[in-house]
Amino acid sequence: MAKHAVGGWPLPQQRWLLALLIMLSISTVIVFFIRSAFDSCDRHLERVVGKKEAVHLSPITTTTAAAPSPLSFMKSKLVLLVSHELSLSGGPLLLMELAFLLRSVGAEVCWITMQKPSQADEVIYSLEQKMLVRGVQVFSAKGQEAVDTALRADLVVLNTAVAGKWLDAVLKEKVSHVLPKVLWWIHEMRGHYFKLDYVKHLPLVAGAMIDSHVTAEYWKNRTQERLRIKMPDTYVVHLGNSKELMGVAEDSVAKSVLREHVRESLGVRDEDILFGIINSVSRGKGQDLFLRSFYESLQLIQEKKLQVPSLHALIVGSDMAAQTKFETELRSYVTLKKIQGRVHFVNKTLAVAPYLAAIDVLVQNSQARGECFGRITIEGMAFQLPVLGTAAGGTTEIVVNGTTGFLHPVGKEGVTPLAKNIVKLATHVERRLTMGKRGYERVKKIFLEDHMAHRIAAVLKEVLQKSKRHI
Ligand SMILES: *[C@@H]1O[C@H](CO)[C@@H](O)[C@H](O)[C@H]1NC(C)=O
Ligand SMILES: *[C@@H]1O[C@H](CO)[C@@H](O)[C@H](O)[C@H]1NC(C)=O
Ligand SMILES: *[C@@H]1O[C@H](CO)[C@@H](O)[C@H](O)[C@H]1NC(C)=O
Repeated sequence: MAKHAVGGWPLPQQRWLLALLIMLSISTVIVFFIRSAFDSCDRHLERVVGKKEAVHLSPITTTTAAAPSPLSFMKSKLVLLVSHELSLSGGPLLLMELAFLLRSVGAEVCWITMQKPSQADEVIYSLEQKMLVRGVQVFSAKGQEAVDTALRADLVVLNTAVAGKWLDAVLKEKVSHVLPKVLWWIHEMRGHYFKLDYVKHLPLVAGAMIDSHVTAEYWKNRTQERLRIKMPDTYVVHLGNSKELMGVAEDSVAKSVLREHVRESLGVRDEDILFGIINSVSRGKGQDLFLRSFYESLQLIQEKKLQVPSLHALIVGSDMAAQTKFETELRSYVTLKKIQGRVHFVNKTLAVAPYLAAIDVLVQNSQARGECFGRITIEGMAFQLPVLGTAAGGTTEIVVNGTTGFLHPVGKEGVTPLAKNIVKLATHVERRLTMGKRGYERVKKIFLEDHMAHRIAAVLKEVLQKSKRHI
């Protein structure tokens, strides 16, 4: 018999640590997000030279014998990434993921951040350190180095519409030399981005990369109708889940530890059904309408005398310190309807895994045009959660209505349909579980980081070819 037999305890300790650490500190959270699957990088090959920038002396080699990356043709290519800001929000984190993907195949990657606060910022410092450690060179957005790099680069990626301001401000008369190798990555769908100031160079760049078909259509329409400019070649690239997130989602022991921990802290029993909405609290994300649906579902259950476990609602994304009118409104509603015991508010956090592990159904209630993509949706599906989402934006491209969840209309018209869908999933356990499994299968088929890397690779290939023809 083996000395260290650990029968029924198959998990490597690391996994446990990872899962538990996720809950503990913001710095761990950053690691969790940033580390996403770039562990093939051998950090020992990188050296920090001087005080300023990290210089990688030899190409990063992979230590595992995995399939070659679809991005391997980017080896030795010089790529400049232009971020409008550096924070823990979706846009910059996604661009950083791209930076690490490119580093992992040996590309030379430079990063500039357009808007930085004048005082020292802990988050920015920590994110820049992460990049330096992985051999991403970090420049000032306005210096000569940035201009020279843009001129030398094989590819320049502008992240978000606002980043367009950088082109004229810094490159000045050299702008036209750089445009043919610019790939513009767009993650937003709001009216105030349609300013010529930001996007007037769009027609001349090599391509636009957009997170969903709906958003791409919207950009095409708006640029034409509002600004009378034409979109460049546009590529839709659906996002994918990081390997780190998939690791937790597929680790049943870690998941149940997290579930138990979160439920206990909220006062929700194991047998209760927990509907969760994980988005920053704001009217656009529809937490108010969700609470109305939730209350209506409780009434339906009472009227019909349905035998169901007790229903709870979890709202992750509050900012109690901000004390906004909307936050106050949500709490007053809960008090008015006397559902305090069933509705739980949790502060904003990037550590979503524990909450995804704790809930039974994910609600995506973004209003108006909906989410551009809505990464939390594929993250929830990775955790085998059925999704109740608005029939708008990227959600319609992720959720298969009736199979991996149910879609309801945006606005007040959606309140009763969502309430009915809540009751449906509360009363049909089998159906709920099956939908969760179907969602997970869909993620495994098309929403993994590898899939995203393949999609991005196809775009980069075209853009490189196009810019070569230009020279
Ligand atoms: C843009 O959208 C508006 C309103 O939805 C529609 O009437 C118009 O035909 C669209 N234009 C194009 C160019 O698709
Ligand atoms: C939530 O945020 C508020 C205000 O920033 C803070 O007072 C409170 O302790 C936080 N709650 C938790 C559980 O972290
Ligand atoms: C979703 O499917 C249900 C039936 O399963 C249907 O009643 C509803 O209209 C569909 N919603 C959308 C937006 O397709």
